[in-house]
Amino acid sequence: MESHFWPLYRLRITTPRLELRLPDPELLEELAAVAAGGVHEGGRMPFSVPWSAASPQQRGRGTYQHLLGTIADWRPERWTLSLAVLCEGRVVGRQDLTAKDFAVTRQASTGSWLGLPHQGRGIGTEMRAAVLHLAFQGLGAHWVTSTAMTDNPGSLGVSRKLGYAPDGLEQVAVLGRPRALQRLRLDRAGWRAHASAPVGITGLAECAPLFGLPEDDLPAEAG
Ligand SMILES: CC(C)(COP(=O)(O)OP(=O)(O)OC[C@H]1O[C@@H](n2cnc3c(N)ncnc32)[C@H](O)[C@@H]1OP(=O)(O)O)[C@@H](O)C(=O)NCCC(=O)NCCS
Repeated sequence: MESHFWPLYRLRITTPRLELRLPDPELLEELAAVAAGGVHEGGRMPFSVPWSAASPQQRGRGTYQHLLGTIADWRPERWTLSLAVLCEGRVVGRQDLTAKDFAVTRQASTGSWLGLPHQGRGIGTEMRAAVLHLAFQGLGAHWVTSTAMTDNPGSLGVSRKLGYAPDGLEQVAVLGRPRALQRLRLDRAGWRAHASAPVGITGLAECAPLFGLPEDDLPAEAG
């Protein structure tokens, strides 16, 4: 989408199989349809904010609104980049990168999901690797964190493969029940040691002020 005022629409992150981009209205419709189609089996709840415990229509609408909300609420000192993940030209899921006071802390966190038919094929690892490249190589992060329920082998598997270290446990209430949440942390050395797939970034320099960074402060713009 062409926008003089929101250059994040021109940001692209690519891996051998995937393209990550801020979805325009057409892709947002596709993303909402993937969410409506289901992101986990009934009876499971992998998210600490249980947005997916809803009807297909509500899940799709919630996804649509969440994404637009991240744009509406964006501040250089507090942002969530919510990207559609495309595999062979089709939207398969969402990968977020979130930070508060990033220019000072150099720390960000991730969140993600894939439509059920797209899980278990390595896409989750590849899309997290893409956004880690954006964080560490593109934006100069020092740490990226993640959390996963201790009974979520898919998310924990992605973090293990990409070199995260355990960073403590938390107890959270989800839908009125206690759940154990594993915190995970990746530093630059761990990222470098585990980065495997080549990742390319374009369109980042003009977005620097939105991330709270001066344009000439970006470490690099490419893979
Ligand atoms: C979590 C998620 C993004 C992972 O993506 P994915 O494409 O399914 O994961 P990958 O195929 O890249 O797998 C990564 C590793 O975890 C392992 N793994 C994945 N799913 C697993 C499962 N259900 N049981 C055991 N191991 C699993 C894989 O085997 C792989 O390790 P390996 O290569 O050593 O075999 C995806 O499964 C998903 O969207 N789940 C539902 C929503 C969710 O849980 N979001 C995260 C909330 S914190």
